[in-house]
Amino acid sequence: MAIHGSRNIPPRAFEGAVQTVLDSYEHPLNGASGVPASLDGLIRTEAELAALAGALGAESVGGLKNDELRLLASAPAVPHVLVDEVNDRIRAREDPLGDAFCAIRTAPTRRASGAVYTPKAIVTAMVDWAASAGAPARVVEPGAGSGRFLMEAARRFPQAELVAVENDPLASLMARANLAVLGKGEQSRVMLADFRNAKLAVIDGRTLYIGNPPYVRHHLIEPQWKDWLKRQARQLGLKASALAGLHVYFFLAIARWAKAGDYGALISAAEWLDVNYGQLVRDLFLNRLGGQSVVVVEPRAEPFPGTATTGAITTFTVNAAPATARFIRVSNLNKLGNLADGRPISRKQLAAETRWSHFTRTPTDTPAGYVELGELCRVHRGQVTGANRVWIAGPESEALPESVLFPTVTRARELIQSGPALTNAASLRRVIDLPVDLSVFSDETRAAIDRFLEWARSMGASESYVATHRKAWWSVRLREPAPILATYMARRPPAFVLNDAGARHLNIAHGLYPREQLTRETLAALVTHLRQSASIRGGRVYAGGLTKFEPREMERIPVPEPATLDAARL
Ligand SMILES: C[S@@+](CC[C@H](N)C(=O)[O-])C[C@H]1O[C@@H](n2cnc3c(N)ncnc32)[C@H](O)[C@@H]1O
Repeated sequence: MAIHGSRNIPPRAFEGAVQTVLDSYEHPLNGASGVPASLDGLIRTEAELAALAGALGAESVGGLKNDELRLLASAPAVPHVLVDEVNDRIRAREDPLGDAFCAIRTAPTRRASGAVYTPKAIVTAMVDWAASAGAPARVVEPGAGSGRFLMEAARRFPQAELVAVENDPLASLMARANLAVLGKGEQSRVMLADFRNAKLAVIDGRTLYIGNPPYVRHHLIEPQWKDWLKRQARQLGLKASALAGLHVYFFLAIARWAKAGDYGALISAAEWLDVNYGQLVRDLFLNRLGGQSVVVVEPRAEPFPGTATTGAITTFTVNAAPATARFIRVSNLNKLGNLADGRPISRKQLAAETRWSHFTRTPTDTPAGYVELGELCRVHRGQVTGANRVWIAGPESEALPESVLFPTVTRARELIQSGPALTNAASLRRVIDLPVDLSVFSDETRAAIDRFLEWARSMGASESYVATHRKAWWSVRLREPAPILATYMARRPPAFVLNDAGARHLNIAHGLYPREQLTRETLAALVTHLRQSASIRGGRVYAGGLTKFEPREMERIPVPEPATLDAARL
């Protein structure tokens, strides 16, 4: 069987590597008569993926960086038939490289860099919108991954220059390969760079910014980038929050670098529509970016496969100040249609409100005066300890100081039995939550903690998956007390309880955290409403009749607006 390697890279770097692999070469396709319909399992490792990208001509799209060359240099050989098959599929508008990447690299690893690739129906709808708004001289895909948007743009805008900006060398190699197969090598530029400071050339014609910026939570963003966000926002006279996720940085970078008349369509998590840190994106939408429309894509349509997240597709024309912007919501990707459709909402009304997702609802979705619970409160799972037998206080932890013992809801029945309010923290078990830095304790306390940790280690508590992924294995990091707690898995509707006891919660409960300050009375009225009206309808029923509400499902329960709650109470 013929073997393909990545041949056009510096030979000295590559020869040795190929030889080693050829000597011990094993691949499921060796000796097979053809390639099966599904490529699952045929591209097995990231090294093979890099090899395929090389064999498909990744190097023909100029400007490879050392990190990419290194991947190619250590790439194994891949069977000829596989290269040919993948080549055919790319030409047939598939993205087998991107699909293989998402299968090989685990979801938690990809999540850290926001690498969740976009379903084809969304890519097509967004490029359709762009085509309806004119032909660009250049198309930029920020956070390009395998270049799904550029591949579609290559077909729709044959004259346009195509620019991918991506900071993961394996992904940039895939983008190069895809563009090479489509014959766009000469017209394309793939930049292995951080989009926030990528140096895009200034051009005469219009640039289309299109893609799916990475969703990475603020905890993983370095302080110097948070400073960058604030500085760049200030240049536009706007404020930024340090709690913003990475997608907000991409919106801002585009607003900073784009020029009047440039345009774009971005899909991102929908939370910027409602949360405080989203104010920057809302401000950009109304001012510099020239927002045209927002299409909310519900989680059941899986805009971000495997994540149960709501998506929002935002279209814009830089510096345009349309009198209205269109808002719409879809629950099925087949209904994506024209992204410029939707209910027109005036800029004035948008400027006056700090929560926008309700504009995407038609009156039949949620009764008048109602909003989704998620608009009022974020729903968060409780903490996972990794070893409850160790971290729930017992005889071994008696010598620990009170300051590290937190009354915590550790069993669903504690909520089910408490009635509408949990008032007595003393009846709860306590969870041990030590700080990362143990040097803050006196010598005597520290000695007691060390004795406890020695026991915890002997119980395997330092080796659980959860513990090994914590900043310090001994630091459980409980969430702050949630004003409302709820069970989420039972043969009955969730039990919503006002948390007057200030209890923490483990992952047998969800915590409801108001997005904005709500008085205790309003919270109590919300709990009363939820207790009366919540049914098992919005959850997922499992075998045996258990109903489970994921946090996002709970956020979709309709509840009266705070003003209505208060009026009812009074
Ligand atoms: C949501 S994925 C989208 C991939 C592709 N555009 C698509 O829609 O299928 C986001 C991509 O951004 C990349 N990324 C993350 N941080 C980045 C950064 N600071 N600069 C450039 N790319 C980044 C990730 O590696 C990932 O490939």
